[in-house]
Amino acid sequence: MLPLQINESLSVRLFEPAHAQLLLDLILQNREHLDRWLRWSGRIKTLEDAQMLIDSASERYLAGNGFHAGMWLDGQLVGGIACHNINRDSSKSEIGYWLDEQFTGRGLVTLACSAVITRLFRDEHLHRIEIQAAADNVRSCAVAERLGFQFEGIKRESEWITDSFRDHALYSLLDREWTSQVFGA
Ligand SMILES: CC(C)(COP(=O)(O)OP(=O)(O)OC[C@H]1O[C@@H](n2cnc3c(N)ncnc32)[C@H](O)[C@@H]1OP(=O)(O)O)[C@@H](O)C(=O)NCCC(=O)NCCS
Repeated sequence: MLPLQINESLSVRLFEPAHAQLLLDLILQNREHLDRWLRWSGRIKTLEDAQMLIDSASERYLAGNGFHAGMWLDGQLVGGIACHNINRDSSKSEIGYWLDEQFTGRGLVTLACSAVITRLFRDEHLHRIEIQAAADNVRSCAVAERLGFQFEGIKRESEWITDSFRDHALYSLLDREWTSQVFGA
């Protein structure tokens, strides 16, 4: 299902071992912006950590169990998009996303998610896709809502983020609800 060329500038491509330094640098530059909300970014502190993340993402993709890929704008790494835990019995999965803070506010994640969702429904034959965001992560909840996900409720203290358990808002989208909307960049 990857790579995805979304428009002439934006693509979603799997990380390769050679991207470890780029990935680490982006995470270090966005330490507070990411660690405040993400389950995994706080663990990425060294080049080896970034390499391990890339290796495990690549294994996951090869095993047909989702991905964590880079979002590239005109050849520059600007963030990531992930599909976690594909449950084949119930044809469902969860997506997540993150951006370099400098590239927020342009609709890039909404656009990339839109293309990824179309592929997940079409190529992976999923029935349901979830987004879970910390309940006070207004920008992430806005992405889910902009994409047409329905709010299902709050999961109390459901995720350990950096230093505390956080309440999470659960959103879902069903295949029949997705109209392959294409958002302008
Ligand atoms: C969550 C996160 C990815 C959202 O980033 P974002 O830039 O707000 O999301 P998008 O790239 O979809 O851009 C949407 C913004 O661009 C604006 N925009 C501009 N052109 C747009 C277009 N063509 N389409 C959609 N939105 C557009 C929207 O109005 C919105 O801005 P606003 O919130 O000020 O109204 C980002 O805040 C982030 O990386 N946070 C840290 C990590 C994180 O929280 N990840 C999610 C964990 S659940």
